[in-house]
Amino acid sequence: MFYPAIIEDMEFKTSLPTETHTKDHIYTGEVILAPGFPSSILLARTLQSLIKDELKVSDIRRAHETHDSVALHGKTSTLRQFVSQDSTIKNLVSSVVRDAGFREADWLLDSPQLRSLQPLGYLNTAAKPAYSGHRDTWFSYPQCMVNFWIGVTDLSAEYTFEFYPTKFKEPVTNNSKEFDYKAWSTKTGTATFTQNSETVNAPAYGFSVKEGEVLIFSGHHYHKTIEAETNKMRFSLDFRIVCKSDVQTSNGPKNVDNESGGFAIDRFAPIPSRKT
Ligand SMILES: [Fe+2]
Repeated sequence: MFYPAIIEDMEFKTSLPTETHTKDHIYTGEVILAPGFPSSILLARTLQSLIKDELKVSDIRRAHETHDSVALHGKTSTLRQFVSQDSTIKNLVSSVVRDAGFREADWLLDSPQLRSLQPLGYLNTAAKPAYSGHRDTWFSYPQCMVNFWIGVTDLSAEYTFEFYPTKFKEPVTNNSKEFDYKAWSTKTGTATFTQNSETVNAPAYGFSVKEGEVLIFSGHHYHKTIEAETNKMRFSLDFRIVCKSDVQTSNGPKNVDNESGGFAIDRFAPIPSRKT
């Protein structure tokens, strides 16, 4: 469910387009919160099991009650590494992409990323960058990138993030020119986290999700994780796809403020074919 209920500049969808390509809607700034597909619900529940086993807890959102922050960071980092490379997860992710209507042959997929946020994480200096407003394209990604975001559990709005839809076509002050993909990926230079340097004064639009629901949005959308007084952990999975031909023809939303260096296209690989 999205809130607030009214915003003039943008309409959020809760179903997939049936007669036109989903990507064309995403490129114009639409955000889709699709009901869970069998594949996405299975994906969320598979992740829940992995997290429970690794953290040895029955309620993953209360894992911080039995682990100190450092131990939790270490174990979730191990999980994140595993999820990014596991073939079962990648096959489920591929099914989600197809179930969401992205069936053309030339879609490429980046590694899925399991994210976790501890309660009041924004007070932790090391975790603070995760709460900075940004466009994902500020990290040298193609303008046509499409983002998927799935709640591993049900998450109320204070545990998710906000979109600033009026900024889809307007520049936001940022330091993306300090981010260089080659330096970041080879760790030969400063891995500057790219963010805006001023408070954005524009309507913000949040949402809640049920486990396995699929949020689909442009990587060009400016968004920001909410700094809320929360007492539970947040687990989510996100992954990114790009249409190869759109990368080659520079199709997608117009770049209004991204000055990052390099091009992160080598992170993407063809989506595995469906297992029968
Ligand atoms: Fe992001």
